[in-house]
Formats: sequence, structure tokens, C-alpha cells
Amino acid sequence: MRYLILSDIHANWEALQAVLRHTRRRKFERILFLGDAVGYGASPNQVVDWLRSQGRRAVIVRGNHDRVCAGLESAVTFNRYAREATHWTHQHLSPRNLEFLQTLPVGPLEVEEDLVVCHGSPVDEDEYIFSVADAGDALSVTPATVVFFGHTHIPSIFMARMVDGHELFQIRLLSGHRNVLDLEADCRYLINPGSVGQPRDRDPAASYAVYDHGRRRLYHYRVGYPVQAARRRIHQAGLPPVLGDRLQYGA
Ligand SMILES: [Fe+2]
Repeated sequence: MRYLILSDIHANWEALQAVLRHTRRRKFERILFLGDAVGYGASPNQVVDWLRSQGRRAVIVRGNHDRVCAGLESAVTFNRYAREATHWTHQHLSPRNLEFLQTLPVGPLEVEEDLVVCHGSPVDEDEYIFSVADAGDALSVTPATVVFFGHTHIPSIFMARMVDGHELFQIRLLSGHRNVLDLEADCRYLINPGSVGQPRDRDPAASYAVYDHGRRRLYHYRVGYPVQAARRRIHQAGLPPVLGDRLQYGA
């Protein structure tokens, strides 16, 4: 089975369209979406319409922005710009898309016996995995050998190898526009495919992955998209301009 792995689209339709065009030459059977369909960008309905249209082909977990934009929780913990975007998104989502977001499952979800997906961490959807300590906590609550996560918007891999009864970690940040990695049989992995719609690793290109489960092979890609069009639409929508401006820098 080959999976298309997408995360953190954040209502950026221009970025999602570019990724979908890029995937036309790549084979996959199912889609794993790691949460944060909406929040920040100007196209929440287009993005959620597309997710809904995938039906059972897609396994979707909700993200913290999906939860708050859907009105399941207040935005009090968000910064000012995220709060304004949450309010705008809630006002603009169609009733059908609001309901879809309200009923999304909370991760972690087991996709296959050894394959799990979540938004922040298997520990909690709001947890960030930035460090080896975070990664250790995350793998301690699941027997999975491969966990896909999002939330940090940083394409990265944490590899855990068992040495003398302890898991030792290596961290790799994924840079460049194409990476192909064969996962080692005796290691466990936490893998972040990066963000489709709001990258934060100083590369503005949309980020995604394809995973060949049978071969344990990961393909990671970056795809350029019309950033200025997405930025302009954020400005025209009356969203905080900084949310459009940051797309230019991948920050
Ligand atoms: Fe996010």
C-alpha cells in the first residue's frame, strides 16, 4: 500500500492544488491527513470540500486549529493573529463543513498494525515533537514502528534504535526538494511530512510525503506554488496581513 501523507494545509488552496498536481505522476492508493485543514488561510471551504470528497480513501485526524475553528473550544490560548483567523474561519465555513470538522476523529489512529497517524503526538493532539525527549514520550505510548505526525510544520524524522535496552534517537531535518529514504527494519520512526500550506522551516514551498508501506520507503517532496496569489487572497479576505506575508518566507 502506498500512502499520500499531507498535513497542516491551513486553508491554503493554492498550495494544496500545486501538491495535487505534483502527485499526478506518483502512485498512491490512500491519503493520510494529519490535521489542521483550516485556520490562517483564505480558503477553508475549498480545502474541506476536497477532504470530504475523498471519502473512505482518506484517513483524517483533526488538528488543534480544526477543533477551535469548528467551535469545539475557545481560541483563548491562541496568539492574536491565530485568534482573528479562527473567528474569520468559523464565520466563513459552510454548515456542512463546520459539521465535518466537528466530527473529525481525534488521533492517534491506527492505520495498519505498525502504522499510526496523529496531529501533534500520540500522547496528545496538542503536544509538539521538537526534541528527543518529546520523541521518547511519543513512542512510549504506542507499539507502532512508524508514526506520522504534524503540528510543528517542520519536515523531520526521529529515528529510534534499540541499544542495550534503550531507544537511542537520531534527528534528521528534511531539506531540499526531494528525499528518498529506506526505513531500517529494526528501528522505529516518527515522521513529519512538513506543512502543505504554511511551512515554517524557511522554505516557502509546500511540503508533503508519499510512503510505500510494503517497501518501508519514504519519498518527501517540496513543491513551489503561487505564494503571492495565496497571500493576496488572505489580504483581500480581511485576515491579518501577516498571515499572508509569512508565506513568502516559509516562517
Ligand atoms: Fe498547524
